[in-house]
Amino acid sequence: MYRTHSCGKLRSDNIGERVMLAGWVHRRRDHGGLIFIDLRDGTGIAQVVFNPEVSAGAHEIATKLRNEYVLKVGGTVAHRPSGTDNPNMPTGEVEVNVEEAELLNPAKTPPFDINSDGLDVDENVRLKYRYLDLRRPRMHDNVLLRHRVIKFMRDFLDERDFVEIETPIMIKSTPEGARDYLIPSRIRPGKFYAMPQSPQQLKQLLMVAGFDKYFQVARCFRDEDLRADRQPEFTQLDLEMSFIDQEDILVLMEEMFTSLMETIKPDIRLIKPFPRLTFRETMERYGLDKPDIRFGMEIQDISDIAGATDFGVFRSALDVGGTVRGICAQGCSGYSRKQIEELSEFAQIYGAKGVLNLPIAAEASKSVVAKFLSDEQREQLKHRFKASDGDLLLIIAGETPVVEQSLGMLRAEMGKRLGLLAPGLFAFCFILDFPMFERNKDGGWDSTHHPFTAPRDEHIPLLDSDPGKVMAKCYDLVCNGCELSSGSIRIHKSYLQRKIFQVLGYSDDEIKNRFGHLLEAFEYGAPPHGGIAPGIDRFIMLLAGEESIREVIPFPKNKSAMDVMFDAPSEVSEEQLRDLHLRLRLD
Ligand code: AMO
Repeated sequence: MYRTHSCGKLRSDNIGERVMLAGWVHRRRDHGGLIFIDLRDGTGIAQVVFNPEVSAGAHEIATKLRNEYVLKVGGTVAHRPSGTDNPNMPTGEVEVNVEEAELLNPAKTPPFDINSDGLDVDENVRLKYRYLDLRRPRMHDNVLLRHRVIKFMRDFLDERDFVEIETPIMIKSTPEGARDYLIPSRIRPGKFYAMPQSPQQLKQLLMVAGFDKYFQVARCFRDEDLRADRQPEFTQLDLEMSFIDQEDILVLMEEMFTSLMETIKPDIRLIKPFPRLTFRETMERYGLDKPDIRFGMEIQDISDIAGATDFGVFRSALDVGGTVRGICAQGCSGYSRKQIEELSEFAQIYGAKGVLNLPIAAEASKSVVAKFLSDEQREQLKHRFKASDGDLLLIIAGETPVVEQSLGMLRAEMGKRLGLLAPGLFAFCFILDFPMFERNKDGGWDSTHHPFTAPRDEHIPLLDSDPGKVMAKCYDLVCNGCELSSGSIRIHKSYLQRKIFQVLGYSDDEIKNRFGHLLEAFEYGAPPHGGIAPGIDRFIMLLAGEESIREVIPFPKNKSAMDVMFDAPSEVSEEQLRDLHLRLRLD
């Protein structure tokens, strides 16, 4: 027998009990005669004390212990001597006076400290030794949090008659806007399976199959550029329902995330009910389709005031149909030239030509913009932004999409710099009324969401005449500026699905080869249906207060999509290639 109790579970109720614990040496302190070990297992840490007068043999073992050695001890639980309690530890009131000990396994010195948060360690080293990195209490807590969140979601949906159904990983391309990961076939030379970018088509086929309420904790695979909130394989809470409309999905999501947060993180604050914004409104007010509504600093359109000035920068933007917009950074009128330049450089990343600044001050300002403004125009601006003396207006002029995007990012950046991201606040919101299509660089149309999204009924005639005006029945759920989920009401009629593929520029052959199965299925009585798929990794990242989803995925790929622990992707043998009928073309 290795243990009677788990380290992290000992409490003052256990005082006087004889216990056995097993775990890793987290920290060792030698106080002359007494040796203190923080013993760690999967549940937490307990302090165990080796006193040579209690057991000379156990004390002898303790003198040899190093961090990460695996140890078993037996002893009696006692109150820590007064003044040595540790209120920061759940087991901080008690300690175990060791009577017997056994070294189960020594350990090499780990490549990094386990008893720190590890954020200063090179990430590739952490990932190479992920099994050690995951021993850190912070990482351990993230994995446990992940378990609790997924369990909550499963229970929540199960109670509402959803059925969890697994769908295959080896299928055919199901597009979500990224490249596919492909699997070559051995028995069908020259043919490939594609791994699903999401189970989108499969869940729709399950609706045709009569499962009205489906969900799956689904692994998705996408070959796309990586960012802090993107991984090549990630997990969605994928769900779909029949005989519902948009409102049913929004209500379900709001209920699920509210009760989840209230159960798992009762200390956080939510904005209730979740605000609902149209896509247009969010672009105008926040510049981004994933607004962080934890703070105000909303974008104001000042094209009318700017248009009445002789300022060349304003004029040249407005003369070609552009816009002039800005935000008001409270209390920033004292920003130095260097700070302003930094903000300009930041906005340039997103295509802006630069950021103009106008400090609001009692005395006339020396800013470039100020010289072109009459007193009245300055007052108008002050009024538009509800600005006070001491504030700083940051203004961008240019083409509307560039101004929206760069000002949106600048607003998010200023929110961070000015400490406006209220801790403990989770600001969810729904974004509704997206356009169905967006122009691609070749002048054709791409789906804003994905090609299975239904257009608004009254816009179906516009598919032929003016696709750019068609609005979709789709919705996003955003939290603290992060896109958590998107979903839609789907097309369930074959003719309409074919029409959408045609608008997207697919040839008849492509439609038949890639989507023939779906179009055919819709001809056998497909019910009206819709769904959504919250990204589980992103949600847990927010919940855990982490900056990257790699911190909440037990075995993630690094920033270059490599698994540095397995060293994958890696070369395969000539024989394997031959079996798969492949020849490498490394030019
Ligand atoms: P979408 O492509 O918007 O929709 O994905 C839904 C959610 O999945 C998460 N996500 C990712 N998380 C980590 N790494 C990635 N590379 C990644 N890509 C997406 C995001 C995102 O909001 N089938 C549709 C859903 C539906 O319509 O029901 C879909 O996959 O949180």
